[in-house]
Amino acid sequence: MAVTKEQVLAALAKVPSPDGTPLPQARVLSDVVVTDGKVFFSLTVDSAAVKGWEPVRKAAEMAVRGVPGVQSALVALTAERAAGAARAPQPAPAAPAARGHAPHAHAHPADKTQPGIPGVDAIIAVASGKGGVGKSTTAVNLALGLRDLGLKVGMLDADIYGPSLPKLLAIKEKPQTIGGNRLKPIERYGMSVMSIGFLIDEETPMIWRGPMVMSAITQMLREVEWGKLDVMVVDMPPGTGDAQLTMAQQVPLKGAVIVSTPQDLALLDARRGVAMFKRVNVPVLGVVENMSYFLCPECGTRSDIFSHGGARHEAERLGVPFLGEVPLHMTIREKSDAGLPVVATEPDGPHAKIYRDIAAQVLAQIKGGAARAAPKIVIEA
Ligand SMILES: Nc1ncnc2c1ncn2[C@@H]1O[C@H](COP(=O)(O)OP(=O)(O)O)[C@@H](O)[C@H]1O
Ligand SMILES: [Mg+2]
Repeated sequence: MAVTKEQVLAALAKVPSPDGTPLPQARVLSDVVVTDGKVFFSLTVDSAAVKGWEPVRKAAEMAVRGVPGVQSALVALTAERAAGAARAPQPAPAAPAARGHAPHAHAHPADKTQPGIPGVDAIIAVASGKGGVGKSTTAVNLALGLRDLGLKVGMLDADIYGPSLPKLLAIKEKPQTIGGNRLKPIERYGMSVMSIGFLIDEETPMIWRGPMVMSAITQMLREVEWGKLDVMVVDMPPGTGDAQLTMAQQVPLKGAVIVSTPQDLALLDARRGVAMFKRVNVPVLGVVENMSYFLCPECGTRSDIFSHGGARHEAERLGVPFLGEVPLHMTIREKSDAGLPVVATEPDGPHAKIYRDIAAQVLAQIKGGAARAAPKIVIEA
């Protein structure tokens, strides 16, 4: 017999929260997802109280596993706010009624007092209206381009639908933990890298991934030893749905780069992307047109196979900067898919230059508008 949500809630009624309130009444519960005997939900609690909630999380898992028909139960604990050491105490606990589970959260402008990540100067999102447009490839090469401009760069792969950084950066190892609960990013090509692929198993059914996003993203942002970074480049999940919106709000973003192919449909999606970031008051740093034109690997001849130039046009129309165009080229694909991104492995080639130019524009945008001379140079010992 299929397990119902009501059965799960009834089991949870026997689990007390730290102050004794039965869990379903404690206003920390996300939506409860039940599929094929697998149960998933999360508890969103104040970051200061996380410790006290851990036994509750375990008890909740045990209780749900005891429900007849339940094969597995996974309960995630999500801290509502970062326990940033330097932050002023919150005046009063937030209205508990507002703690819905992430994908149902309502759109509201990004909270400007949202805590950043200690040591990280700027976080930028690389987003696209849909998958397969080369978002991750662009994100990696853009990040490397920023690195080449002398910045200390981190990369966070937040694409739950298809984490790509393990592949694009040929990362097979798992991150190590420091002091029991903090993760060490993987170092690759001079960048600090963290991927949701390290935290969420590929086997995890998509339906579970949705609600897991917030806790996993929070973990990747706040429980990773990022160290000092000039910029963190986030490979966002594709699309402009609630999950993306929520994430855009969760991450204190300096700005977003939208990747689009020249095709109209993709552009329509890109338009939604721009609209989404505007809605949450995140500045759109610009649009990159990927697979913009075809560069013949043999003869070097350029052909505009898909009515190239659409993104530039669209960017102008939307009043956002156009950051550049990247050709469709076999080398970019092969290198990218082999974990050898062109900017790192063919730094003197034509593609690396294109990405570095885009990076320079992005940097100029971060630093406040018009393109300008020398970027800040950070000399690493
Ligand atoms: N400019 C390009 N030229 C050739 N192939 C590309 C280019 N950009 C991306 N690709 C390839 O297209 C595929 C999808 O790219 P990816 O970056 O994974 O997209 P997304 O992250 O948007 O799903 C990959 O195989 C990648 O190597
Ligand atoms: Mg990708």
